Amino acid sequence: MSKQDKAKTTSVEPSRRSFLTKLWIGLGFVALIEIAGIVIAFLRPRRPRLREVNSEAIITAGPVDSFTPGSVTAFVRGRFYLSRLEEGGFLALSRKCTHLGCTVPWIEKDKKFECPCHASAFDITGDVINPPAPRPLDIYQVFIENNIVKVNTGKLIKRSEFRAEQVAYPKKKI
Ligand code: FES
Repeated sequence: MSKQDKAKTTSVEPSRRSFLTKLWIGLGFVALIEIAGIVIAFLRPRRPRLREVNSEAIITAGPVDSFTPGSVTAFVRGRFYLSRLEEGGFLALSRKCTHLGCTVPWIEKDKKFECPCHASAFDITGDVINPPAPRPLDIYQVFIENNIVKVNTGKLIKRSEFRAEQVAYPKKKI
């Protein structure tokens, strides 16, 4: 290597080194900003979801008499099933399996919900009839106004067992 080449190499070395140093500092700064953003997002209190406070959370299912006792009707918009029990009461059941969250279809011929993922089964009240699901299907509040069934899909209610007081009944006709 000639003396001239050597001189060139030594003059290029420091500028390349300083460029790399600046690059690393820049990347470190960007990473720091991203981490700060993640921490701030994590610590900031969550705003309630619009759905929870919105009147759109109330879904009008229909007149009481349009649901035959012992039937299950799927409501795609609200992502729930409306069960009308044999004695006339109503339950709005979540479609999500309480095991790992798969969507459970209603099997009309067997009169039960059966999860395609791990074969949990639930009866028309959403109660577990076959594990591994650890608890009944979650429910939404049902209320009946002027003989019209309505469901509040804004708040999911978790339950450890089926109880009679979870069922909404229409007023008896006099
Ligand atoms: Fe339904 Fe596992 S997700 S049984």
